[in-house]
Amino acid sequence: MSLWVNGAIVDDDALVIRADDHGVVVGDGVFETCEVRDGRPFALTRHLRRLRESATGLFLAYDEDVVRAGVDAVLASNIDRARLRVTLTGGPSPYGSDRGDASPTVMVATGPLKQWPDTDDVAVVPWTRNERAATAGLKTTSYADNVVALRWAHERGAAEAIFANTRGEVCEGTGSNVFYEDDGALVTPPLSSGCLAGITRELLLEWLRAEGVDVREDAQPLDRLHTAREAFLTSSTRRVQAIGAIDSSPYADAPGPLTSQAKEIFEKYAAQDSDP
Ligand SMILES: Cc1ncc(COP(=O)(O)O)c(C=O)c1O
Repeated sequence: MSLWVNGAIVDDDALVIRADDHGVVVGDGVFETCEVRDGRPFALTRHLRRLRESATGLFLAYDEDVVRAGVDAVLASNIDRARLRVTLTGGPSPYGSDRGDASPTVMVATGPLKQWPDTDDVAVVPWTRNERAATAGLKTTSYADNVVALRWAHERGAAEAIFANTRGEVCEGTGSNVFYEDDGALVTPPLSSGCLAGITRELLLEWLRAEGVDVREDAQPLDRLHTAREAFLTSSTRRVQAIGAIDSSPYADAPGPLTSQAKEIFEKYAAQDSDP
């Protein structure tokens, strides 16, 4: 819908990236996706903080003023509801893993916001998240693992793929964090599981605790996700979304009471502040 690259708005079909950009050559880049509602990007400050952390993790130069100028430029065109995507890559570089000394490429775009159903099914993939990887917890553009996992899940009728980590613990989805019922309380994997520090996960944990809901960050074996009574996904575009079935086994409750309560609390707090 609207695209800004390295300082200027360009046509969304313009050729804006060089063939030797390190983002294209080896997936050397970081990104953020957030939701635009009523013309305002939701939780932009937290998303830009995470972008800085991801860039730092990749030794990429990051200038928040430049990114904010891009965000302002794409939102100036009266966009009401959209997906906002910020991408920062290594820029023109030699072919290979060494990065060149050019400035990073900075792109800010808006696009259509996907409407998710109230409930989606998930499938656990046979590959693992590596909680000890150099890029664990960073939101990098190297998402080929997620592309393969999501395709694998789709072929089994599921809308999201779930990864365990190398220790066999519940970790996350390809574009979502996961929460589930355990002995009547809510549990989500800790950041040490190798999952992304999801902004929706972070906000939900704060807001659930503020409301006195029993929620724990706990490293648990994958099997717990299968034996839970209910479970849900969180992400910037899904917010809180119930999981209907895992590996074709329906949850007892979908959406269950803990999921409905989490959704209600998230929506209540999110409506009060667009940049919590
Ligand atoms: C791998 C992964 N985990 C979790 C999430 C959820 O994060 P957030 O709530 O910040 O959108 C995402 C978002 O796309 C993701 O890519």
